[in-house]
Amino acid sequence: MQPSNPNTPRTGAYPEGGLAFPHRDLTGIGRLERHEILYLLDEAEQWVELNRQPQKRAGLLSGLTIINAFFENSTRTLLSFEIAGKRLGADVVNMHAATSSVKKGETLIDTAITLNAMRADAIVIRHASSGAVRLIAGKVDCPVLNAGDGQHEHPTQALLDALTIRHALHLPRGSDLCGLKVTICGDILHSRVARSNILSLTALGADVRVCAPPALLPAEIEAMGVTVFHDFDAALKGANIIMMLRLQQERMQGQFIPSPREYRHLYGLTLDRFARAEPDALVMHPGPMNRGIEIDSQVADHPTRSLITSQVESGVAIRMACLDVLTRRARGVPGWARTAGGAA
Ligand code: CP
Repeated sequence: MQPSNPNTPRTGAYPEGGLAFPHRDLTGIGRLERHEILYLLDEAEQWVELNRQPQKRAGLLSGLTIINAFFENSTRTLLSFEIAGKRLGADVVNMHAATSSVKKGETLIDTAITLNAMRADAIVIRHASSGAVRLIAGKVDCPVLNAGDGQHEHPTQALLDALTIRHALHLPRGSDLCGLKVTICGDILHSRVARSNILSLTALGADVRVCAPPALLPAEIEAMGVTVFHDFDAALKGANIIMMLRLQQERMQGQFIPSPREYRHLYGLTLDRFARAEPDALVMHPGPMNRGIEIDSQVADHPTRSLITSQVESGVAIRMACLDVLTRRARGVPGWARTAGGAA
């Protein structure tokens, strides 16, 4: 299952004479160049190594304050950003919207101005509204990282997924994903994970297929460079990687599927259906999973072909890389003084 195009350059090197990462913020994969994606993946490798040691501390961000402002629930993203900041030596503070003054009617902008006045060195935001993170990025003085905004983007999820694939395929630093066939199946319409992954995977050269009932696909998604399937069995044929997505009931108004039982029958990844992909195909899921609907436990817990826990491991390393890279200017890292671009 190796990427098959040997002519594609496999380098995440800096552009000649330029900056590896000229953006102040990380608001979406759509604003990144291919070499910038590869750069972040390569930067994360050192943190994968560190996180496997008994002593996991690096002091790079010592003295810095990171605020995680989550206006939506999270397990993986919130905890991994918190762990990432702490392992890099920063002081990390979590703001949960449910117990904040948001509940008293404070606006998003006023909350952002308040966080900014506390002189945070980076703010990580999850919000239910697409575009909310970019709005905040325009109101504060420090780097802003998107931890998921509405149906728009979840950039660190796409980065951790790409890193997980590279590791699973034993691809070295600088490798892209050319030649890989990736099938993303589920509620594509409401999924920021799908959107960020499509942008990332196509930028890295993968052949991306999306599969869902017509009601759960955005109009004109082909324009993103993917092939559309409604028949899951057909979408699995030849697939090397299968990314399963849950039905995002919290974003659905109205009925998008006849019933969970029928959805599972047509789009659930059972062990039988898994066998229709390549014999060594691997399965991924960003979590949280709805076992028995989009994925069966025999697949999700497969001892050799499920990457789901590897995705979580990669998430900490990717978030360490993003926090490190985005705070280099403020830390005065030589060569990064010019990293002052607008929201990425
Ligand atoms: N993948 C993901 O974003 O999971 P959480 O909602 O638990 O953060």
